[in-house]
Amino acid sequence: MRGLTTFLWLLAVVAAGATTGRAETPVERGAYLVNTVMTCHNCHTPFGANGPDMARALTGGTPVFDTPAFRVRGSNITPDRQNGIGAWSDDDIEKALRTGVRPNGVPLAPPMPTGFYGVLTPADSKAIVAYLRTVKSSPNKVENPVYKAAVSREVFPGAETPVDPAVLTDKVKLGEYLVTIAHCMECHTPRVQGRLDFAAAGTGNQEFKGPWGVSTSRNITSHPTKGLGGWTDAEIKRALTEGISRDGTKLKPPMGYGFYSRMTPGDIDAVVAYLRKLPPRE
Ligand code: HEC
Ligand code: HEC
Repeated sequence: MRGLTTFLWLLAVVAAGATTGRAETPVERGAYLVNTVMTCHNCHTPFGANGPDMARALTGGTPVFDTPAFRVRGSNITPDRQNGIGAWSDDDIEKALRTGVRPNGVPLAPPMPTGFYGVLTPADSKAIVAYLRTVKSSPNKVENPVYKAAVSREVFPGAETPVDPAVLTDKVKLGEYLVTIAHCMECHTPRVQGRLDFAAAGTGNQEFKGPWGVSTSRNITSHPTKGLGGWTDAEIKRALTEGISRDGTKLKPPMGYGFYSRMTPGDIDAVVAYLRKLPPRE
């Protein structure tokens, strides 16, 4: 009897996972979030000439974020107990992600987009932790962060509390959730005196310097000429997953199309549906 019940339960789980072909384990879900939509490698994996060096995945050290307020580097977030986060409890990691505070009480500088991660569903933040426990451990020692002024978080409006997973069956709500945890608005919102100006969210105009030279984030609101309003869904998807702009030019990093290319078609559709709803802004 017990065997049959287990079998039927498994069937139900597999049916529930039908959109992805089969049921996803928490570790698989965490891998999906970390390696695609949430682009953790953009800041926690050293980059080589051809993008992130996956042999050193999540071992930290680069990039360096050097501002008048702080000088920090992406941390080693592998399970090494000494130099990674192996000695942190699951709760410690979830708390750092959601609230931006380390177990020793020291706040994380804002390049770490914790101001967007408060919306994570409990299942998703646990899945991220479960996956981080499985990645290859590295003793890489990252230079200690230097804080020259008090660290102040930038919390995206509405991103403070976990989303109710039940609402994510709605395509636009799912898109909003994905765009939030992808921290698209951290890059696609202008900064005024160093702070994100959320009243202008989506209008872009932030500069990024790196091995690629300089890139400037663009307007991704539904504005018909300044934003994506005049683009077709296919053109937006191509930009997100292939890094090709409407006029055919190649987009530069840190736009994370290399990661988004492995998102599920359903999730990409949801992102596009939500971008369509962003109020047009110049
Ligand atoms: C835009 C860049 C960026 C992205 C994306 C990013 N991080 Fe971070 N993260 C940082 C930086 C920079 C630090 C170090 C901040 C400091 O030292 O104050 C950090 C710190 C951390 C820490 C604290 C580690 C420690 O030893 O104190 C954890 C845990 C962490 N990140 C996990 C993640 C995970 C998981 C993801 C993806 C879901 C992620 N980060 C995405 C930039 C980023
Ligand atoms: C780490 C910063 C960063 C993040 C995160 C980011 N982008 Fe971008 N994005 C950029 C930059 C910079 C460009 C312009 C690149 C260039 O000029 O070559 C860009 C370009 C784009 C374009 C092309 C617009 C055009 O006019 O060609 C779209 C669409 C876009 N981003 C949407 C998104 C969405 C949706 C997300 C979240 C899923 C996102 N971006 C996350 C930095 C970012």
